[in-house]
Amino acid sequence: MKQKEKLKRARTFMTKFHRNDYSGHDIAHIHRVERLALYIADREQPVNTFIINMACLLHDTVDSKLTNIDEAAKNLRTFLASLEIEKNECEAILHIINNISYNHAQTHTTMLTKEGQIVRDADRLDALGAIGIARTFQFAGAFNEPMWSNEVDFPSLINGTVNLNDLSPSAIKHFYEKLFNLKDLMHTKTAMTLAKERHNFMQQFVQQFFYEWESSI
Ligand code: ADP
Ligand code: NI
Repeated sequence: MKQKEKLKRARTFMTKFHRNDYSGHDIAHIHRVERLALYIADREQPVNTFIINMACLLHDTVDSKLTNIDEAAKNLRTFLASLEIEKNECEAILHIINNISYNHAQTHTTMLTKEGQIVRDADRLDALGAIGIARTFQFAGAFNEPMWSNEVDFPSLINGTVNLNDLSPSAIKHFYEKLFNLKDLMHTKTAMTLAKERHNFMQQFVQQFFYEWESSI
């Protein structure tokens, strides 16, 4: 089977999986990650673009937040086997999918391949900037979290005196527990540059959010 056909089938598999998602993992997220990763890959050659592309398309089909993870992993393996992908490539794709998540990286020190680093950078870039903000609020809505829990004031949040573990979940908390950390965790130079812009935009957003939240006008 030609690579082009394998990618086409992966796209169909992904589309079926993400079709009804309103938690920030919709089909458009996968397309953006794919475009970002291919843009980075172009500037970080030599890399295996096929592995990157396949991993992007399938990267959120095994996620404990979205599905039963054991069943999803089994479905994905069966699907990859049906494409007659050679064993090395198959393992490389699965290794990326199993290791890119932020939570996983917090607790594991698994080294990613260059291809894995690019997919992770692309996925993280889509958690930043205007799209990142939109996804965060969409996620919060989908998982019954408020925009902000209002437990502390803005100055104590930004000057780092608050123990984030003491705050209940909210979209704004997510900026401090994850999103503002991401710009320093990019692997590639290309992604670092894009991340800085998106990071600055989010900072402005949060500032304006609190200005309006606390405003008496
Ligand atoms: P991905 O694997 O695509 O990075 P995640 O499952 O980590 O996606 O999260 C999906 C989106 O929701 C991302 O934009 C992420 O930053 C955001 N998100 C994740 N956890 C939370 C949370 N607890 N509250 C609000 N937004 C969240
Ligand atoms: Ni993703």
